[in-house]
Amino acid sequence: MSSKKYPDASEKPKSGFSRRGFIRGVGIGSGALGTVGLLVQTPAEAASAAGVAGPGAVPVTLQINGKPVKLNIEPRVTLVDALRNYLDFTGAKKVCDRATCGACTVIMDGKVVYSCTVLAIEAQGKDIQTIEGLSQNGKLHPVSAAFDNHDAQQCGYCTPGFVMAVKGYLDKHPNPTYEDVQKGLGGNLCRCGTYVGVRKAALEAAKEMKGGHHA
Ligand code: FES
Ligand code: FES
Repeated sequence: MSSKKYPDASEKPKSGFSRRGFIRGVGIGSGALGTVGLLVQTPAEAASAAGVAGPGAVPVTLQINGKPVKLNIEPRVTLVDALRNYLDFTGAKKVCDRATCGACTVIMDGKVVYSCTVLAIEAQGKDIQTIEGLSQNGKLHPVSAAFDNHDAQQCGYCTPGFVMAVKGYLDKHPNPTYEDVQKGLGGNLCRCGTYVGVRKAALEAAKEMKGGHHA
């Protein structure tokens, strides 16, 4: 059995029918059968009767980097897939797809989150910050600049997630020690082993931000 939960990045949902929706529909349908005897519902009918969104595409509005963005997606689509596959915000990376590596990190309502663990439909009404929104007027955010100064990246694949994790961390801990940073960034992994550079960058960014919150 495949271990993948979602289609490849290149795949877009083609039908209005999902396995999860099917299971949900069958569950509801089975309950109805138990009480009524001969009632048979399609998954879509069952979902609709229960006030459940989907299983087909539904309109979703996300607030990304201060702007509302509308899209039509199945309720099963995660935030990282919505960002990357439907909206071309490709900074957040999908690596483990199971809340382990931090490559997909974004900031949602001020909290650092793994966007592979959030359904896009659940992210509606939240303020979502991605790395694409960090630079202002063509000027690098102090965290991005500090990564550059300290060579805190090699292949760079983990870097956008790390930058967002550092930004979210410093917003809440403006004057960290090296040990604080080491512990606070423990949710992000780098296969190239740039951890020392990342920690130094975080400390420099903290000084540069002087405890102030940058956009
Ligand atoms: S891809 Fe989300 S934590 Fe690894
Ligand atoms: S720089 Fe390559 S994975 Fe972190």
